[in-house]
Amino acid sequence: MLTPSLLDKLNDQMNYEFYSSQVYLAMAAYCSSESYDGFANFFLVQSEEEKFHAMKIFRFINRLGQRAVVSGMDNPQNEYASLLETFEHAYAHEQTVTKRIYDLSDAAWAEREHATIHFLQWFIDEQVEEEATFDGIIQKLRRIDRDSNVFYMLDAELAKRTFSPEAE
Ligand code: FEO
Repeated sequence: MLTPSLLDKLNDQMNYEFYSSQVYLAMAAYCSSESYDGFANFFLVQSEEEKFHAMKIFRFINRLGQRAVVSGMDNPQNEYASLLETFEHAYAHEQTVTKRIYDLSDAAWAEREHATIHFLQWFIDEQVEEEATFDGIIQKLRRIDRDSNVFYMLDAELAKRTFSPEAE
C-alpha cells in the first residue's frame, strides 16, 4: 500500500511522462514542417516511448490496487529556431526527468517502499540511455557547420528508428 504522499508523486510523474510525450510530438511537428523527415520520425518514436513510460506507471499504480489520476499540464513549446535548439531543449528536458525520477526514488527509499524502489530502477537505467542518446545527437549536430553530410547521414539514421516496447 502506497502512502498518499508517494501515490501523489507517482501520479505526478505519470502525468509528466504524458507531458513529455506531448513535448516530443510538438518537436516532431516542427521537424516535419521544416522537412527534416528523419528527425521528425525520431521524435514521433520518442513521443510513443514517453507514452509507454507513463502507461508503465499507470499499470504499476493499478497493480498496487490504487488509483491513477490523470491531469493536464502546460502546453509544450511548439516553435524552435533550429534543429540544434530542438535537441538542446530535448536534452535539458531529459535532465529534468532524471532529476524527477531521482527525487521520486529518494521518496520511496525514505519510506522503505521496496516495490516502488525496485520499479523505479528501470526508469533510472532508461534515463542514462535517453540522456546519452540526446547528447550524442547534439555532438553530431554541432559538426554540421563543418560537414553538411552529417545532416543527411543523421537524418537517414534517425529515419530508421522504430518503437518496440519490451513486454512487461
Ligand atoms: Fe520518460 Fe524521456 O523520460
